[in-house]
Amino acid sequence: MTSPLPAWPYSPYIAHRGGGHLAPENTLAAMHVGAAQGFTMFEFDVKLSRDNVAILMHDDNVDRTTNGRGPARDMSYTELSLLDAGSWHSPAYAGEPVPSFVSVARYTRANGIACNVEIKPCPGREAETGAEVARLCAEYWQGAAVLPLLSSFEEPSLAEAQRVAPQLPRALLVEKVPADWRERLAHHGCIALNINQKDATPELIDAVHAAGYRIAAWTVNDPARARELLGWGMDAIFTDKLADIRPTA
Ligand code: G3P
Ligand code: MG
Repeated sequence: MTSPLPAWPYSPYIAHRGGGHLAPENTLAAMHVGAAQGFTMFEFDVKLSRDNVAILMHDDNVDRTTNGRGPARDMSYTELSLLDAGSWHSPAYAGEPVPSFVSVARYTRANGIACNVEIKPCPGREAETGAEVARLCAEYWQGAAVLPLLSSFEEPSLAEAQRVAPQLPRALLVEKVPADWRERLAHHGCIALNINQKDATPELIDAVHAAGYRIAAWTVNDPARARELLGWGMDAIFTDKLADIRPTA
């Protein structure tokens, strides 16, 4: 017997880190590029500054994606705001700031863009990051027709997100699909399992659907693989190759 699938008001094509490889990741400039490429849903990574302001950044350290040095968790929001998060990508983006999560929430809501908010806590800050991101999402998307999908590799973050805002949809991110994925999804009240695309098979997709969950795959940068996964029934793929893999009109 199969369970009914949860609502999935999301695009099958999700722009990874906002603009994929076309713009500096996790910036508002990236979102402008993603929107211009026809994407209606973005994934991005959110963590807390030292003084508990939610900002967009993937890595624990600021070194790769800004002109700064060191762990993001040791920097205040003001210090993070002063960094150049665009020059590393290309001169056209020189001076692009590290955005606050609130500024991205405002932009996406105003433009009807759906969000997958990946809770990506600084080490040791799993619980408070999950709680704060969920609190902000509940506030900024109050009354919205399409709620943001919260996801995380960190189960303590998901647990806190569920406690603070149980009404928001959640997805469990996994590096490797665990044998007990059904139990973990049920435990965190998730609607979806977000897997590494390398682990995707038709059998896994069917099993996840039969258990009553959605499934999405990161990061799919080969157009033939994107077609294959979507043909197998994958609910969504995350891509960096926005010019090659994108929603069709
Ligand atoms: O949320 C999908 C994907 O972004 C997970 O991996 O390392 O790119 O955040 P990562
Ligand atoms: Mg991510």
